[in-house]
Amino acid sequence: MSQNENRGLSSQNFEKRVVEIGRELFAAARDEKASFFDKNFWSGKMMDWALKDPAFKIELFRFVDVLPSLKNAEQISEHIRMYLIRDDLKMSPLVKSALGFAAGGGLFSKLAAGTVKSNVEAMAKNFILGENADKALPVLKKLWENGLAFTVDILGEAVVSEEEAELYYGRYLELIEKLPGNMKLWKDQPVLENTPFGKTPRTNVSIKCSSLYSRIDPMHFRDSVEGIKYRLRKLLRAAVAKNAFVYLDMEQNDLREILLTVAEELWNEKEFKDYPHFGIVIQAYLEHAIFDLERLKLFSEHRGTPFAVRLVKGAYWDYENIMSSQRSWKSPVFLRKVETDANYEKCSAFLIDAYPLLIPAFASHNIRSLAYALAMAEEKKVPPSGIEIQMLYGMAEPFKNALYSKGFRIREYTPVGEMLPGMAYLVRRLLENTSNDGFLKAKFVDDKSTELLLQKPVAPNEEATLKGATSAEPIVDFNRREVRDTFKKTLDELRSIGVKDVRPSVGDANLETHVPLNIFNPSLSDELVTRLHCVTGNLNPVHAVLDEGEKEWKNYPFEKRAAILDKIADKLRENRVRLSCLMTLEVGKNFRESDADLCEAVDFCTYYAAEYRKLMQGKEVESALGEKNTYLYKARGRALVIAPWNFPLAILCGMVVAPLVCGSSVILKPAEQSSRIAEEFYKLMLEAGVPKNVIAFLPGKGEEVGAALVKDPRIHIINFTGSKSVGLEIMKAAQEYTGKNHVKKVLAEMGGKNALIVDDDADLDEAVAHSLKSAFGYQGQKCSALSRLIVVGDAYDTFKSRFC
Ligand code: FAD
Ligand code: 2OP
Repeated sequence: MSQNENRGLSSQNFEKRVVEIGRELFAAARDEKASFFDKNFWSGKMMDWALKDPAFKIELFRFVDVLPSLKNAEQISEHIRMYLIRDDLKMSPLVKSALGFAAGGGLFSKLAAGTVKSNVEAMAKNFILGENADKALPVLKKLWENGLAFTVDILGEAVVSEEEAELYYGRYLELIEKLPGNMKLWKDQPVLENTPFGKTPRTNVSIKCSSLYSRIDPMHFRDSVEGIKYRLRKLLRAAVAKNAFVYLDMEQNDLREILLTVAEELWNEKEFKDYPHFGIVIQAYLEHAIFDLERLKLFSEHRGTPFAVRLVKGAYWDYENIMSSQRSWKSPVFLRKVETDANYEKCSAFLIDAYPLLIPAFASHNIRSLAYALAMAEEKKVPPSGIEIQMLYGMAEPFKNALYSKGFRIREYTPVGEMLPGMAYLVRRLLENTSNDGFLKAKFVDDKSTELLLQKPVAPNEEATLKGATSAEPIVDFNRREVRDTFKKTLDELRSIGVKDVRPSVGDANLETHVPLNIFNPSLSDELVTRLHCVTGNLNPVHAVLDEGEKEWKNYPFEKRAAILDKIADKLRENRVRLSCLMTLEVGKNFRESDADLCEAVDFCTYYAAEYRKLMQGKEVESALGEKNTYLYKARGRALVIAPWNFPLAILCGMVVAPLVCGSSVILKPAEQSSRIAEEFYKLMLEAGVPKNVIAFLPGKGEEVGAALVKDPRIHIINFTGSKSVGLEIMKAAQEYTGKNHVKKVLAEMGGKNALIVDDDADLDEAVAHSLKSAFGYQGQKCSALSRLIVVGDAYDTFKSRFC
């Protein structure tokens, strides 16, 4: 049943009314052009070519993105050369020769480079009101006088330090404190101020909470919520004192749960509980949107004071898809534009129904979407002054005029700030305006018919899939509270089991062991986790068992071994939380990194199984007439695996399952520090079908057992990951071995020193965050961890202070 069947109009008549409203709005907008697409302007010309050639569009946006960080004309010329002067990019001869001129070098080129820069700045000014509050004030006044309300946003998001968060907090505070005094003197605008609940404040601010705290991460959810609340509370206090309206913008989906929680907790505090001038944003491109609306409605009932909900489609569509693809997650956003549009209508109907518990603000430039919301409001008898329409500064001007002429309150989202922190915002606007799916392009560039533009969005039944999604094992989603809780609970359970004895094992052999070693939790050094019984030097019983097992194992049909690897992957998945928590307990890995370790182990199993199946198809090689020659693979012999503690599951698993699937028997010598995890994995391999006389679990001291095995003539392959010194010793020992029937093969992955280079045009927000992650993520113990940081030229000082 459609949303309006239980209302006054039949579904058909309601749809007619939507189209009628849409037509009226188009008619009122007449043939005006949106400024961004006006070809008289440089941006219009560049966009024209960007729309014609997607490759040029990408390079142009990359260039725009990097431009604010370029310090002089030479750098600009160089970047034009690198990004834009390419034979494969299409552009008009005029644009090409202008850019060619700017890229050419010499005095005139300097002038031309300057012109390119000021043109890009002018394009940015299309969307950004002014560099600071003082410069923005006259523009805001003019907007107000022309019949537009506004909500001011300070450009900048996702700060990297508390100093930066403090700076942004200060800017928001200044706005909230200064604007009301200024605006008091402005002329009355009844349409912009009067609502059924009294006057809505003239001062309206939109806050990006990611600029208020530098350590936001769903993994430490409580700290993130409290960190944001700490500065936001002071801003809300100022807003109440000055009678200002505060919206909380919605950002990436990773922050959604945090931001909703912040709003619910803060707005419910005693000093804010009765304040009616707060709002939050819901993004209709999220499948989850309708549930969040239901949650907000319940919250409003519970709080007892209504608040506003700005319904948008969402500005991070590309980001959400890229991130989900990297994490092998189902994307949280709809993959078809028509689905987002249909969901926008569904959410609009919900909001109108929830009025006045929730006060709707419909933020869209899409006349069909708005016409639907307005028809719903009309149908439900929600007065025009009870809702508002919001649009972005610099976009869809003709529609604003049209809606204003019909008596609606239009609020413009007006960003204030400098180009550099504003780049992310600007690039989002460029992507949005040039998207092939976008309404504005359809109207102002493609000149689509009114009929098409007002067509009802009907989402198809079948699910769309994300292009380019990886097949890697998905990491778990720590945004979900139940996932975080399960990890914590499992860790507590493991702890309550206490210390565990780990002993060597192969077949049914009885192996002699030393006095046990105590292994402590490195994060809590008095917590005993493992009592490790290391094997003594006599390894003959081990080889005897493996000799027996190997005979059969290497003759298994290859598919049987590959299937066992798939089964190991399944077992890892079944036990993922317990194994991840064990890594936290035994080697001090945080949950996110231990989960990633487990995923990599799964990937090793599925990858080696798949590759092995391919290899075993054999390869035709040249065959003379009457011959058929095929290239095939055979098991090479016994493998010794010497594994490190830093990736206690993934690296160990990869080094073991590769020789196993090929038909080798394996001796697994884990690192002492992570032997309990290794033992769990060993047992899980047996459960998955690896015969117990094919793999030996042999914890032992590296100097004793490791060294003896490396020289042992019965070992054919050595898989080692660890330090360079030990790796080189192993290679030397293996080389010196002069057995009769084979040479030893060593695969050694050794630690190194990795440099990260931050170029002078780097985006420092990204460079700082990624350098920190590379150096200190995985306790700095990743083989590829950053251990040398090279910062080029002018970037050095700023980078250094932000990094430190
Ligand atoms: P349309 O052209 O109808 O829709 C474009 C939108 O559809 C895209 O932005 C995207 O969300 C979606 N889309 C595009 N391609 C696809 C596809 N293939 N499959 C599925 N969906 C697709 N955004 C935020 O995220 N947080 C905010 O806090 C926020 N505040 C805003 C405040 C105001 C006042 C306004 C006007 C916008 C705000 N936005 C915010 C930005 C807003 O999300 C975009 O401007 C809006 O999505 C553009 O949608 P539209 O209805 O104007 O245009
Ligand atoms: C953005 O920053 C408008 O909040 C939206 O893209």
